[in-house]
Amino acid sequence: MAIPPVLLILSVLLFFLLRYITQKKRPPPATKHLPPGSMGWPYIGETFQLYSNNPNNFFAEKQRKYGAVFKTHILGCPCVMVSSPEAARFVLVTKANLFKPTFPASKERMLGPQAIFFQGGDYHARLRRLVLRAFMPEAIRRKIAGVEEIAVRVLSSCDGRFINTFQEMKTYALNVALLSIFGKEEQSCIEELKQCYYILEKGYNSMPMNLPGTLFHKAMKARKQLGFLVAKIISSRRDSEAKTDQFDAGDLLASFMESKEALSDDQIADNIIGVIFAARDTTASVLTWILKYLAENPSILQAVTEEQEEIRRSKGKIEGDEEGGLNWADTKRMPVTCRVIQETMRVASILSFTFREAVEDVEYEGYLIPKGWKVLPLFRNIHHSPENFPDPAKFDPSRFEKSPKPNTYMPFGNGTHACPGNELAKLEILVFLHHLTTKYKWSISGSKSGIQFGPFALPLDGLPIKIDSLAEKN
Ligand code: HEM
Repeated sequence: MAIPPVLLILSVLLFFLLRYITQKKRPPPATKHLPPGSMGWPYIGETFQLYSNNPNNFFAEKQRKYGAVFKTHILGCPCVMVSSPEAARFVLVTKANLFKPTFPASKERMLGPQAIFFQGGDYHARLRRLVLRAFMPEAIRRKIAGVEEIAVRVLSSCDGRFINTFQEMKTYALNVALLSIFGKEEQSCIEELKQCYYILEKGYNSMPMNLPGTLFHKAMKARKQLGFLVAKIISSRRDSEAKTDQFDAGDLLASFMESKEALSDDQIADNIIGVIFAARDTTASVLTWILKYLAENPSILQAVTEEQEEIRRSKGKIEGDEEGGLNWADTKRMPVTCRVIQETMRVASILSFTFREAVEDVEYEGYLIPKGWKVLPLFRNIHHSPENFPDPAKFDPSRFEKSPKPNTYMPFGNGTHACPGNELAKLEILVFLHHLTTKYKWSISGSKSGIQFGPFALPLDGLPIKIDSLAEKN
């Protein structure tokens, strides 16, 4: 029997009312010391103000009105937002033990509850050691040839086409992530794994309703299948290890499997899927912004191209020469390109903020942050403060000729949960830009400019471009 709409609306209102009342049961102990700010409507809080507009405008406006530490209420949660380098450091580094990572339960279920992002304490420290071991420079330098092969393949597949930059960069970032996780083996499972991952991704931001036919349901099924596939890969690796008595320690799966404090197959699967998730859209968004900023700043593009051509020449790579051949030392001779990456990550600040939750009542600068409240360090506000970066809206890579002030630049986060994949991300961007700038030209198609959030900040429509090879440079 269909439920009458009025009854449905009343039940929803009743649900919100009950949640509101139950939340109110535990008032913050010393309301007068809460940071300044507004909490909006009961339960709904200021969610609409945040999402009806560019969220960055919401954060900037609040900071202008209330200062660097302010309270608000979004998505059913009371929050304190912090936008000074000192406050972000307090939350992420010096008092990190008082603030735990927090995600909606549906996201935890989908990625895998034992994945690194959701953890603290000993288990987190153990996972971090294993992840860092696979992504430290000594490990990833062995992957350069593989990364380069992927970059060359993706670029040549784009040649002469109108492309959605973000979609193509996602293909690149996914292939690099899979290479760094599984190495070159197990290719037979990788195609199926990718197909399942695409379904998971589609359902990730959907309503968490696990009913047949919904995107969420399909995603949860795909997640289960991903678990099976990873288990299959683990078992085939165990077999080949037994046969050959050799173990390639250069990838993440090997790092997890070689651990003395063994991880279960489920723990490995949760963390592998989590790393794919962390590695893909982030790197693809940054690359998309770089292509936009370079296209809009011809003199900067020229400087990058000259730097990359110099490397190509110095390696004897002239007309008709074979592809590839970058090595770790080459990637350390790219200061102009590195500054473009740094400045892109500052201006675009693709992760505008992160979430934590206070595990007890915490006092900061005379303000109370009550236990259970969400705490959001606002990376983008820090990156766009004129005190930290003069003329902050201007894309000016030369500002990184000098190091930024301490704790003012955090594109990869800070403290115990800071990004362990940052070296790999930088490496894959450099390799891609080397081949792009020395062999291709591109132009932005359409005149629409703007930002979309999905959830990372992205040029509108994923930045449609036309890309063509510079045949004379090959
Ligand atoms: C340019 C690309 C990337 C950006 C901007 C980025 C940014 C970040 C940030 C800001 C955090 C910290 C989040 C927090 O404190 O809540 C983080 C965590 C993480 N990132 Fe990245 N990331 C990128 C690429 C990658 C790649 C390529 C990998 C793996 C290969 C990776 C793996 C991870 C993991 C596993 C964590 C969780 C660490 C933990 O909880 O201890 N990321 N990333």
